[in-house]
Amino acid sequence: MADAGPLIEVRSLRKNFPGGANAWGKSKGMVQAVADVSFDIRRGETLALVGESGCGKSTLGRLLLRLIESTAGSISFDGRDLTAMTGETLRRARPDFQLIFQDSGSAFNPRMRISAIVEEPLRIMGKPAAERKDKVLSLLQNVGIDRNMVDRFPHEFSGGQRQRIGIARALVSDPKFVVCDEPVSALDVSIQGQVVNLLMDLQRDFGLTYLFVSHDLRVVRHVSDRVAVMYLGGIVEIGPCKELYERPRHPYTKALLAAMPRKRREEQPKPAFVGGDIPSARNPPSGCRFHTRCPIAQPVCSQERPSLRPDGAAHQVACHFPD
Ligand SMILES: Nc1ncnc2c1ncn2[C@@H]1O[C@H](COP(=O)(O)OP(=O)(O)O)[C@@H](O)[C@H]1O
Ligand SMILES: [Mg+2]
Repeated sequence: MADAGPLIEVRSLRKNFPGGANAWGKSKGMVQAVADVSFDIRRGETLALVGESGCGKSTLGRLLLRLIESTAGSISFDGRDLTAMTGETLRRARPDFQLIFQDSGSAFNPRMRISAIVEEPLRIMGKPAAERKDKVLSLLQNVGIDRNMVDRFPHEFSGGQRQRIGIARALVSDPKFVVCDEPVSALDVSIQGQVVNLLMDLQRDFGLTYLFVSHDLRVVRHVSDRVAVMYLGGIVEIGPCKELYERPRHPYTKALLAAMPRKRREEQPKPAFVGGDIPSARNPPSGCRFHTRCPIAQPVCSQERPSLRPDGAAHQVACHFPD
């Protein structure tokens, strides 16, 4: 079905959170966690989502899985309107999209054996017992958990093994789409690579489509086909991985890449990261949200918000003065 169009089409998506109240009970307004984003995720690709903490990456991932409700906009999943699904239709669609998060193991019931933990989604789906058992054993083997360990409890495993078990649980329902939200950030650097490679192997073997959320630009370069850069709730640049790393267009992308740690000590990162703190998503700057930190900002940047515009065949950038 390679020519069946993108798996996911996001259009003008927004998510506002109530900002709470101050000490005198006055409402602090809305947090614009996701502010008008539009993009596609193609079948079988890994689209990475990068940006500083708090820019809305997890919120966007959760919107795509209908774990939270959008404020406005639409999401089409495999040709169907996900935002309009309700009740039984939504329940039946849920196995198709799954989440792997930072510390999946922390959510396991400590009193359940890991075979039961991985089996649980299949039981909820009403699959017959024999089918469930085979599937659980083969999937645990796929993620590198030995057959003789499947009757153990979560605490008997290391953090890396628990993450593998979390991956097995996410994949047991044969999803088409998986949001990997900082899937290796909680792991020891020494085992991050193994788990990243496992995710890539599983993608190939099961034909999965990934949204890979990470703040680690080295991991992202290794895993992704395309990269979307988020700043304060908006996508400022999206394009093929190699192109974006070799020729970033948006000043924010350039700053992120300049601050990336280098392999060799003599190539220390330039301390060129844009100055200042990230403005609040509760009271975002006018015009281009990046203009308060941008080294090339002009008067128009504080007045007009630039939309994502094509820059080359596969690349899009939201900047009045790209490159
Ligand atoms: N449930 C929530 N209620 C209120 N604000 C939230 C909630 N979840 C996230 N936010 C806010 O939305 C913004 C984006 O958060 P998040 O998506 O977690 O960012 P990231 O994953 O990029 O670090 C932040 O300002 C955060 O404080
Ligand atoms: Mg997050």
